[in-house]
Parts: sequence; structure tokens; C-alpha cells
Amino acid sequence: MSKQIISTPVIRRLPRYYRFLADLEQEGVIRISSGELAQRMGLSASQIRQDFNCFGGFGQQGYGYHVEELREIIGEILGVHKKTGVILIGAGNLGKAIASHVDFTKRGCELIGIFDSNPLIQGTSTANLPIMPMESLDNFCSQYHPEAAVLCIPKDAAQKIADRLIGLGIKGFWNFSHYDLRLNNPDVIVENVHLGDSLLTLSYCMHRNEEQA
Ligand code: NAI
Repeated sequence: MSKQIISTPVIRRLPRYYRFLADLEQEGVIRISSGELAQRMGLSASQIRQDFNCFGGFGQQGYGYHVEELREIIGEILGVHKKTGVILIGAGNLGKAIASHVDFTKRGCELIGIFDSNPLIQGTSTANLPIMPMESLDNFCSQYHPEAAVLCIPKDAAQKIADRLIGLGIKGFWNFSHYDLRLNNPDVIVENVHLGDSLLTLSYCMHRNEEQA
């Protein structure tokens, strides 16, 4: 497979390809053409071929794509077989929901520690992990070397905690804190997640439809 720089829009589509292919595999589909896959995913066949060509192309002329093989290749690209150690900071409503309902292992990650500054919840458990005080963060990181952190803390705490975590070796942030982290470190990756942005997009599209009707 040829290696080249992959554009962000293509990278953003890969998890979706992976999910659709996993569903197809579950349905017992062995192979699929770019046209059929495009129809299922609401994309164009040329878009799919173009995306897969970024990785050297996976299909065979007249045969289509082997579903299991393609899912495995995309899974490999996404790193689903890795075991990146992840810690979660802020075990409130959102943090607990994420710890309990996100399947980290399916996505190449392992949730290994949960931390919160509230002494009232320290020592209780969520997702079978004890909630630890922030004071034990340094020791924990030097012992277990987590590489990524989920931030579920209020926005005014996010930047300071992120800077501290970078000093402790964190290389990636899944940031829910409603504050777009600004990091001057090209080695650290930030994925800011705002569920509200998605809702706003829905809202805009619905109103646009109403206006056009
Ligand atoms: P919450 O108040 O239930 O939980 C926040 C937790 O963070 C608390 O347990 C608190 O003790 C802890 N905390 C506060 N400061 C801390 C610090 N400096 N160090 C460690 N722990 C600290 O709030 P909730 O509902 O869980 O929301 C958490 C954050 O996520 C909020 O900023 C909220 O606005 C945001 N949020 C973001 C969403 C998104 O789509 N990105 C969706 C929903 C909430």
C-alpha cells in the first residue's frame, strides 16, 4: 500500500467506511462494488474510489471490494488493533456516560484511569474503574504511561489541565469540554467534540428546507 499524506476529509470518512463494512460483514456480504457501497452510504461511487485510491486502492476491476479484507485494512489504518492507554478527566454526568457507554477497546484504546477533583466522588467507581483524585495523576502517568485523555471538565479548567497532561506525556485529547484547546505542540492531537454543533447543523438544515418549501 503506498503511503501518502491523507486529507482530513478522507480521514473523517474512514470511521464511517469501517462501520458500514463491519455491518455488511455481519450481514454475511462477501464482496461489494463501489456503486453498491456508495448507494448504502449516500456517497458517489467515484468519491469512494477516490478515497480508497489514497491508500493505493483496494478493489479489483470487475470484482469490487472484498468486505472483510477492506474492513481489516481500514481498521489497520485507523489503528483499531492498538491498545492506546486512555485516561478520563472529569467524572460528572458526561464523563460517566462516556466511560460507561463508549467501547474504547473496539477503537484501539483502553480506558485505564478516571480522575476528578471532587472529593465526594473520589473512591467511587464508574465503568469498573475507581475515580481517583487529581493529586494521583502524576504518579499514575509515570507508572502506566497513558497516551490519550478524554476531557469532560468545565471549559475554564480545560486549558490548564491539558497543559499539565502534555507535561505528563499525553499525546492526544478527546476534548468534550466546550473549549477548543489551543496547543502549540504539533506532536499533540486534539479532537474537539461539540454535540451541540451537530444539533445546530440539523437545525439549520431543517430551517433551510422549510424556507425552500
Ligand atoms: P458535571 O458538572 O456533571 O461534571 C464535571 C466534572 O468535572 C465534575 O465531576 C467536577 O468535579 C469535575 N471537575 C471540575 N473541574 C475539574 C478539574 N479542574 N479537574 C478535574 N475534575 C474537575 O458536568 P457534565 O455535564 O459532565 O459536563 C462536563 C463538561 O462537558 C462541561 O463543560 C459541559 O459543558 C461539557 N459538555 C460538552 C458536551 C459536548 O458535546 N462537547 C456535551 C455535554 C456537556
